[in-house]
Amino acid sequence: MKDKRFTGKLCIVTGGAGEIGLATALRLAEEGSDIALIDVKDMKEAQRRISELHVTVRSYHCDVSDFRQVNGCIEAVTEDFHSIDMLFNNAGIQGEFSPIHTYSPDDFAKVISINLIGAFNVLRCVSEVMVAQHHGVIVNTASMAGVGGPVNMAAYGASKFGVIGLTQTAAKDLAPHNIRVNAISPGYMGPGFMWDRQVDLQAAANTQYYDGDREKVAQQMIGEVPMRRYGAIDEIPGAVAFLMSEDSSYSTGINIKLSGGI
Ligand SMILES: NC(=O)c1ccc[n+]([C@@H]2O[C@H](COP(=O)([O-])OP(=O)(O)OC[C@H]3O[C@@H](n4cnc5c(N)ncnc54)[C@H](O)[C@@H]3O)[C@@H](O)[C@H]2O)c1
Repeated sequence: MKDKRFTGKLCIVTGGAGEIGLATALRLAEEGSDIALIDVKDMKEAQRRISELHVTVRSYHCDVSDFRQVNGCIEAVTEDFHSIDMLFNNAGIQGEFSPIHTYSPDDFAKVISINLIGAFNVLRCVSEVMVAQHHGVIVNTASMAGVGGPVNMAAYGASKFGVIGLTQTAAKDLAPHNIRVNAISPGYMGPGFMWDRQVDLQAAANTQYYDGDREKVAQQMIGEVPMRRYGAIDEIPGAVAFLMSEDSSYSTGINIKLSGGI
C-alpha cells in the first residue's frame, strides 16, 4: 500500500485511455488522487479500473488539438471538481516514419497539432485555472525523441522538442503563481503497440540507420540504450508521481529522462 500523498486532490490526465496515461492515473489514484480522464478514445474500461481504487473518476471526450473543445472541457472539469491540483499533459501520437525529404506535410501538421498545439491548449486552459487558485503542478509528456533528433520521425521529434521548450517557458511564467511545470521523457518503452510499430516502421523506412529486418532493428534500437533493454510502462508512473509530489517541491523546468538513447 502506497502513502496517500494525493488524497483530496484532483489530477487531469490527457491521453488517459492510453497505456502511459492509464498506468499513471492508476498510480496517482492509488495514492488517493481523484482523476479526470481526457481522451478521444472510449474511456469506460480506464474509468472502471480507476474507480476500483475508491476515488472519484470522470471522463471527458475531447480532442486536445481543438482549443474550443479544450476550453469547454476544462470549464466542465472545474465545475465538476471545483479545483485542479495536478495536470498530466500526456496525449500524443507517433506519426509516420519517413526521411524528411519524403515526409508527408499532412502528417507533419497532424502530429504537431496534437502533440505540441494540443499540449499548449491544455496547458493554456489549465494554467489559467491554477493561476486563479495560486497553486498547481503540471507534468508534460515529452520523449527522448525531443532530446535528440530521431531518425525518420521529423514531426514527432519536432513536436517533443517543442514540448520541452513549452515546459521551460511555462515553468518560468508560472513559478510566480506557485505552479511547477516539469516534463518526463520516456525512451523506448515496450512491449506493446508503440514499440512494435516503431520497429516495423523503422525497418520499412529502409535507411542507412536501421536494418530492413525487424528482429535486427529491435536489437539495433536496444543497442542505443545504456540499459540494453526497453523500458516498461510501469517504470513511468513513479517519475510522474515524484514530480507531482512535495518531494520535488524545488523542481521546475526539469525533464526527467527515462533511459538514454534514441
Ligand atoms: N510508448 C512509448 O514508447 C513512448 C515513448 C516516449 C513518449 N511517449 C509519449 O507518451 C504519451 C502517451 O503515449 P502512450 O505510449 O501511452 O500511447 P497510447 O497510444 O497508448 O496513448 C496515447 C493516448 O492519447 C490519445 N490521443 C491521441 N490523440 C488525441 C487527441 N487529439 N486528443 C485527446 N487524446 C488523444 C489516444 O487516444 C491515446 O489514448 C504520448 O505523448 C507519447 O508521445 C510514448
